[in-house]
Amino acid sequence: MTVLYNLVFVSHLLGMAALVGGYFAVLSAPRISEVMVWGARAQFVTGLILVGLGEGALDKDYNHIKIGVKLVLSLVILALAEIFRSKQKKGSENPNVAHVVGGLSIVTVLVAALWT
Ligand code: HEM
Repeated sequence: MTVLYNLVFVSHLLGMAALVGGYFAVLSAPRISEVMVWGARAQFVTGLILVGLGEGALDKDYNHIKIGVKLVLSLVILALAEIFRSKQKKGSENPNVAHVVGGLSIVTVLVAALWT
């Protein structure tokens, strides 16, 4: 089970790379890219699996307030990314939303890394 957990954790880090790296990549022409949307989906799904596996099978004891804060941030990021990616495809431009999604993603990394 530890190997599975570690593989999901690696996916969680790769999802973060897609989300934050995707944002940096579009900074010169801000928009929600497909890479950012997939990164947001990956973070939400792999995060939930980590908590399920960690608490259900590996006896991990997470800080539930921290997890709750990350869950809410992740849900907002995912909803904004999905909604505005789809609006973009229909021709509507909302460059500021890319900064909101990228900014909230960086805030979530700070919560993950600095909240001990
Ligand atoms: C945009 C969304 C997210 C970002 C950028 C993000 C980022 C990170 C980062 C950088 C880490 C490694 C640092 C650490 O171990 O403390 C981490 C770990 C973790 N994340 Fe997330 N995360 C996100 C969403 C979520 C969600 C929604 C959940 C659960 C509901 C979650 C659950 C976890 C757990 C359980 C770990 C710890 C793994 C371990 O140490 O064994 N994450 N996350």
